[in-house]
Amino acid sequence: MPPSMKAISQDILGGPEVLRTVEAPRPTPRTGQVLVRMCATSVNPVDCKLRAGVVTHLGPPPFTLGFDLSGTVVEIGPEVESFQPGDEVFGMIFSKKGAYGEFALANADTLALRPANLDPIHAGVLPTAALTAWQAINLADVHNGERVLIHAAAGGVGHLAVQFAHRRGAHVIGTARTVNHNFLRALGADELVDYTESDFAASVQEVDAVIDLVGGAYGSRSLRILRADGRYIDAQGSDATDDPRYRRVVGHPSPADLTSIGQLAADGKVRVEVEQTMSLADITEAHKLSESGRVRGKLALTPWGP
Ligand SMILES: NC(=O)c1ccc[n+]([C@@H]2O[C@H](COP(=O)([O-])OP(=O)(O)OC[C@H]3O[C@@H](n4cnc5c(N)ncnc54)[C@H](OP(=O)(O)O)[C@@H]3O)[C@@H](O)[C@H]2O)c1
Repeated sequence: MPPSMKAISQDILGGPEVLRTVEAPRPTPRTGQVLVRMCATSVNPVDCKLRAGVVTHLGPPPFTLGFDLSGTVVEIGPEVESFQPGDEVFGMIFSKKGAYGEFALANADTLALRPANLDPIHAGVLPTAALTAWQAINLADVHNGERVLIHAAAGGVGHLAVQFAHRRGAHVIGTARTVNHNFLRALGADELVDYTESDFAASVQEVDAVIDLVGGAYGSRSLRILRADGRYIDAQGSDATDDPRYRRVVGHPSPADLTSIGQLAADGKVRVEVEQTMSLADITEAHKLSESGRVRGKLALTPWGP
């Protein structure tokens, strides 16, 4: 009998209660793949949308969610030269057999070595959020002295985008509830708007770039305060697609980007906020929390028990 493992699976689309723990065969890496013993993963909002069927790019269930991973390589498939068993790695998976399990298969070219001084929990929440933030700031071509508006600044992607923009010397403006303003100021935000109390489109002056992590009508409202030569980066699906300043970002795996980000985090130059670390045994609660839209930074998930 092949060895088995615990994983979270779902047979139907629906609310958080469709997620359940199953015993599954431990997978075997194929060409270009590695098998990782999981240390941590995270909840990304897209997990909840896939679970519910609001987005469908994993196809129909059953599937195991989870895009982020950190852990230890335990087996390598044919033609893998970049890693060997025992390596500590972090990165992204895009598969119907995702990272919500005791083990996960990943393509070697989506992973990077985890720096020794970056702990595995923080490494495990970084990949999707940090790659999206990094690639959004690159796409916006943010320069020293520019005014950059970041929506949902306190979230997983947002709090990292604030820091990446600040490191480029930008004047960073964020939308967030007042309860998160001190947190964001400490990360480098210069101006903050509590979107529950005032309209950012009325209180913010001309900006050079917008990173939109909220979408919908935030798009057209942001365009009103975006300079004629500004850049509008949509991560979430907004109503601004017809504008020539519109660009869409989709966070994608990049070992080079991950290595740069991991080193910044390991050196303490970028802070990775983990609001809570939960066990995969509590996955239903974790999805409910993520769907509240109130998580500051990231939610980490670790496998069951020691
Ligand atoms: N295109 C891509 O590749 C990509 C990749 C990752 C994520 N995304 C998308 O980007 C969005 C953000 O992702 P995330 O992981 O950062 O989400 P998240 O961590 O769940 O975001 C939670 C944060 O959103 C803030 N927020 C909620 N409603 C807001 C509003 N109306 N205005 C301003 N802030 C608001 C909350 O801050 P307050 O408590 O201060 O309200 C909270 O801290 C999601 O929709 C996600 O699907 C896209």
